[in-house]
Amino acid sequence: MKYLALSLLTATAAVASADDAQKAKLMETGKAAFMTCMACHGADGTGMNIPPDKKMAPSLAGSKIVTGEPAALALAILKGIQKDPANAQILGIMAPLELQLDDNKLAGVMTYVRNSFTNTASVVTPEDAKKFREQFKDIKAQVTRAQLDEAGKKKDK
Ligand code: HEC
Repeated sequence: MKYLALSLLTATAAVASADDAQKAKLMETGKAAFMTCMACHGADGTGMNIPPDKKMAPSLAGSKIVTGEPAALALAILKGIQKDPANAQILGIMAPLELQLDDNKLAGVMTYVRNSFTNTASVVTPEDAKKFREQFKDIKAQVTRAQLDEAGKKKDK
């Protein structure tokens, strides 16, 4: 009995450290891939203030799109976002990045932004990234905020 409990404990620890190792690897890949995002979102993810009252891009810190359902985040990165004329505070444009990021880099950068700048959310694996790319393959234009909201709704299992 004692032995069984001990081996269960060891097995759980082994799984946890495999997860930790995967996450560390994705974070490393993601940090490098985040170079692509930094030009607009800034190294600290806050979106680069342009005084007195404008920004290049919205902050990724505390963003619901970043930390919510990963499908919405994948959609924003893969296809870009249509410029909203109502939001004149934001000077940049969220361009489609599907050609710049392979599944591994997409998974990394998603994991990285979900777990940086005070954000904490689940890991996104290259298998997930591949699935999102497939799911959205027929979308050929930058998406609207409404499309992002739709993708961000939790699916009923
Ligand atoms: C050329 C500038 C630029 C680059 C590069 C860029 N973004 Fe953006 N991003 C923007 C702008 C501008 C918006 C706001 C779009 C709008 O609403 O018009 C935005 C919006 C977003 C949003 C939605 C945030 C929210 O809460 O509204 C996410 C998530 C995002 N970007 C992630 C990324 C990631 C991750 C990368 C790198 C892989 C990246 N962006 C690269 C400019 C950029």
